[in-house]
Amino acid sequence: EFHKKPEKVDFSFNGPLGKYDRPQLQRGLKVFQEVCAACHSLKLVAFRNFADLGYDEGQVKAIAAAWPTETPSIDPNTGEATTRKSLPIDKIPSPYANEVMARAANNNALPPDLSLITKARHDGSNYVYSLLTGYQAQPAELVKQFPDSKTGKGLHYNPYFANLNIAMNKPLNDGQVTFDDGAPNDVKSMAKDVSAFLTWTAEPKMENRKSGGLATLGFLLFFTVLTYMSYRSIWAGQK
Ligand code: HEM
Repeated sequence: EFHKKPEKVDFSFNGPLGKYDRPQLQRGLKVFQEVCAACHSLKLVAFRNFADLGYDEGQVKAIAAAWPTETPSIDPNTGEATTRKSLPIDKIPSPYANEVMARAANNNALPPDLSLITKARHDGSNYVYSLLTGYQAQPAELVKQFPDSKTGKGLHYNPYFANLNIAMNKPLNDGQVTFDDGAPNDVKSMAKDVSAFLTWTAEPKMENRKSGGLATLGFLLFFTVLTYMSYRSIWAGQK
């Protein structure tokens, strides 16, 4: 009863005809770039995929080059591991060279790759929003009933997280990101934008799937009517 189900968010892509809101996805990308990318990668998404959000080639190049974490590479002269500025063909990199480094920087926890997080978690789009807006003080009642659940050092209470105490510090605070379109930047608005963005990373072709499904239903309906009419016509003369 202490663990909460995700809140229902009114996303533009909800429902059988839902579509992504491109300006919202662009804002979500900005939140991701300025906040989440410090710890999380998107290994299934390449910078060039951002063209889908409405950016032209030059803008994609600029986003890749300005990304806060660089792409791992090998120095051609020394053969040593190094990093370089990202190119449109690169995947969104992790800021850590490997898992050991990632855990060392995060109190032993591992920031997961977020490409598919909205699919990996039940009700994922609502979950990511709820997680980001759900940080709060631990209820005294919980600690009374389960003393071992007391939020430990380096952990943060969040009733939407599966085991209630999460290693990620509250990542979003009011006013943290400034949007080019002047959209609101309170925690809830930014959480909604970045959850929409992470829904897009997990399912960039959602709109095709939905419109395809609708066309299929239309066809099936048409075919049902046609079959029924043929049946009536074929048997019309029989008593
Ligand atoms: C875990 C999202 C920023 C560190 C997670 C999870 C999500 C998430 C969805 C997975 C929760 C689960 O397993 O169900 C985000 C978003 C961010 C953000 C959307 C930006 C708004 C950050 C930052 C850091 C960070 C800046 C590091 C300072 C971590 C760590 C975990 C985690 C260490 C693993 C937590 C655990 O297993 O206890 N994050 N994150 N995150 N994140 Fe973030």
